Amino acid sequence: MDIKAPPGVFDILPKDPKEEWRNSHLWNWVETTIRETAEQYGYQEIRTPIFERTELFKRGVGESTDIVSKEMYTFQDKGERSLTLRPEGTASVARAYVEHRLDHDSPLQKLYYISPMFRYERAQAGRYRQHHQFGAEAIGNASPEQDAEMIDMLYTLYTRLGLKNLKVMVNSIGDVECRKNYREALTLFLQKYFDKLSEDSQRRLEKNPLRILDSKDPEDIKIIANAPSILEFLSPECKEHFAKLLKLLNALEIPYEINDKIVRGLDYYNRTVYEIIASELGSQNSIGGGGRYDHLIETLGGSDTPATGFATGIERIIQSILGQKIPLPTPHRPTLFLIPMGEAAKIPSFQILHNLRKNGIKSQMDFSGRKLGKIMSYANQIGAKFVAVIGDNELETKQVELKNMETGEKILAPIFHLARILRVEVEGEDFIRIWKEMNAPFDQPLEAEFFLKKIIQSIDSTKHLTTELQTAMQKMQEIL
Ligand code: HAM
Repeated sequence: MDIKAPPGVFDILPKDPKEEWRNSHLWNWVETTIRETAEQYGYQEIRTPIFERTELFKRGVGESTDIVSKEMYTFQDKGERSLTLRPEGTASVARAYVEHRLDHDSPLQKLYYISPMFRYERAQAGRYRQHHQFGAEAIGNASPEQDAEMIDMLYTLYTRLGLKNLKVMVNSIGDVECRKNYREALTLFLQKYFDKLSEDSQRRLEKNPLRILDSKDPEDIKIIANAPSILEFLSPECKEHFAKLLKLLNALEIPYEINDKIVRGLDYYNRTVYEIIASELGSQNSIGGGGRYDHLIETLGGSDTPATGFATGIERIIQSILGQKIPLPTPHRPTLFLIPMGEAAKIPSFQILHNLRKNGIKSQMDFSGRKLGKIMSYANQIGAKFVAVIGDNELETKQVELKNMETGEKILAPIFHLARILRVEVEGEDFIRIWKEMNAPFDQPLEAEFFLKKIIQSIDSTKHLTTELQTAMQKMQEIL
């Protein structure tokens, strides 16, 4: 077939032959960690539509931003409405907040999303036309604590995933009044170097000179290095907010740098802004960013409501994890792979398979009927922990040999209690609980023997714990 995916988008596969970051088990692991973290911090999931009225982003994100002026996927539907595939999540969340009057439900809404976003950008490594964000928004609180909670949650997520050496860069861009004064000073400064500025920056000078601060052009960077700093133009209230935030970050031991050149590419921000940089990402090195946006809700027709949030790119998280060679979780493996031998074994094996799955055992069965050697190497390839062949003999004796594919060890197990035995094998020392949960008596000598062996092993393996516990208790007594 000669139809390929359009440029800048990609598939997430069980195993991508070329690009490891597109393997779905890594995405599942990152998304599970995200959900656990967000929920621990008290954030609830919100899902908004993939497309919105174009007006939302024009008003919310700002017409002069690159996102709105150059990068939106905008189209007319059959009702002649102008719609846009969402380029980011904050405007949509703010729209939903106002539309559903979420402030009536609770004065503070803490919301998160994991969603695809669409930007018509120049496709390159780390920059896609459909990318995926984890975003979080806290709407209804103006305190620096709320900003600190956001940065803490994002940083904790990265740490949990094993990421290191991230640069957290924070800045304050003040409120409208501070920015008005700063804009004048900055424009005056930049005008002196107008001829040396890049074409993009020359264009921006009139409309949005602050955006020149995060230009990537080497000549611009040299000029900007000596530009006046926004931090010197902050009002006493904005200064205090920023100082409190930094104090909180110090208290939480989050390593950060103040970078007065961070302005962010969306218009809704005020006061706190931040960006987190991962050096493994090359030129597209921003792994996440966010800030406060106290006027967006009002701009979209709601009441005067402070808010703050961030978003982080999931592609970039996974690419950084791989770049830092962090140990990765293994993909889901079947605990047991059943191989029926002969026609008579097919239905009983299928029943065993069904029963194992009902009891929570990840199991698979061969439906191909190929030669045993071929099936065994397939079972090995998909990482099965145990393999069992079921033929006439096994059905008659009601016993089956479980072959451990890693050690080669064989365990003889009663077919009717396979699920219990496999759970004990896999979940280890929790076996007494498992046995109680399954609420079935020991009625097979083989199983009784297996359990007894496990009990002895488990007592042996916990001996060191007992001594560790005693030492810990002694220490606690000393402290008390
Ligand atoms: P943003 O900085 O535009 O912020 O995007 C957030 C993150 O999404 C970036 O740090 C980056 O990791 C990822 N990202 C952005 N564009 C692409 C792309 N083309 N390809 C791959 N990854 C990309 C926002 O979108 C704001 N809504 C964040 C926010 C939430 N501020 C307050 N609340």
